[in-house]
Amino acid sequence: MNMMGTGSIAILPAAPQYHRNRDTEYRYRQDSDFFYLSGFAEPESVICLIPGRPQGEFVLFCRERDREMEIWNGYRAGPEGAVKDFGASDAFPITDIDEIISGLIEGRSRVFVSMGAQPLFDQRMMGWVNGIRAKSRAGLHAPGEFLMLDHLLHDLRLFKSTEEVRIMRRAAAISARAHIRAMQVAKPGMMEYELEAELMHEFLKNGCPAPAYNSIVGSGDNACILHYVENNKAMRDGDLVLIDAGGELDHYASDITRTFPVNGRYSPEQKAVYELVLASQLAAIDSVKPGVSWNKPHEVVVDILTEGLLDLGLLKGSKAECLEKASYRQFFMHRTGHWLGMDVHDVGDYKVDDQWRELEPGMVMTVEPGLYIAPDCKTVEAKWRGIGVRIEDDVLLTKTGHEVLSQAAPKTVADIEALMRG
Ligand code: GLY
Ligand code: MN
Ligand code: MN
Repeated sequence: MNMMGTGSIAILPAAPQYHRNRDTEYRYRQDSDFFYLSGFAEPESVICLIPGRPQGEFVLFCRERDREMEIWNGYRAGPEGAVKDFGASDAFPITDIDEIISGLIEGRSRVFVSMGAQPLFDQRMMGWVNGIRAKSRAGLHAPGEFLMLDHLLHDLRLFKSTEEVRIMRRAAAISARAHIRAMQVAKPGMMEYELEAELMHEFLKNGCPAPAYNSIVGSGDNACILHYVENNKAMRDGDLVLIDAGGELDHYASDITRTFPVNGRYSPEQKAVYELVLASQLAAIDSVKPGVSWNKPHEVVVDILTEGLLDLGLLKGSKAECLEKASYRQFFMHRTGHWLGMDVHDVGDYKVDDQWRELEPGMVMTVEPGLYIAPDCKTVEAKWRGIGVRIEDDVLLTKTGHEVLSQAAPKTVADIEALMRG
């Protein structure tokens, strides 16, 4: 509200509820911006932030208590609970919003909203504003400026508080345990979804109601499909399996990838590719510290992967030439990471004034290089084909360097093979 200044109002709707089929709905998940500001997880709610409003600056519209509905669908805070338990200065039934909100908007010159996120809500808001405009001859003032709330809010979300870091550390620790569990039980002949079940077991048992994104369990060639989520193939002796999965705890994501041999032993080719990806990942993580460019870890990865691919004979020519042509892209086609927070691909700008942003304490990012040698890749010897490796960790920027939140998930060849030997 300090950033918005007086004369402003921010209006945020809760996430919509999505039907799955007939009268069944997808599990509800609150909008990240909405939850960030309020901690309020119920649907059919609207936040108004009104800096300087004498009667109270945080107004929440929400569902009323309703005995019948609560018997069927669960507990509701109601406006009383919104004030008592969620810090709202004022709260009203959502059914009354049309009558009340115009009075909150009227006289404010700037409206902060996330336009485009929920077009139906945008329309309702314009309806409220038009209602005020229509009464201008009666002396009512409609706002003159509409601004994207995202610029202010997403920069706040980019920097994690101590409390947020505590949650993210725990989310990553739970997810690391899930990866360990998958390594411990994996064996040839199991289905990929059996490992997904082991991951889900650890998530749910430890308080993550859901994964932060659809879990990827790709064995053999499937590891080369970046967003493989079918998870329905049998895992064969001699295959690697790539698991990219993280639990969501209290609306905060973790995002971990490990790649390990289904039978517990990396083949020489698998090991060579794996060690190369790991070397690039460790060096990239090492480069993460305040003052360094966001792009630095990616540059480190590209350099090491290019050199390693040349050494293995997977790329041909000189290093300079390969870097110039970005030849690594044939095997590494995504970037080295992203911001991590309430959303797995979290909000926050990567560039400021057209320059890669500098890393600062409180940011959390992933470092996730990979190599994916397509099963039908004609430019490499057959023995390399179908090998897909990604190694991904969650890294917090600290004042002096970094902390790897997901460090409990083993990733050296020796540690993984030892764990799988039991
Ligand atoms: N699991 C999504 C990602 O790694 O970016
Ligand atoms: Mn990621
Ligand atoms: Mn991931």
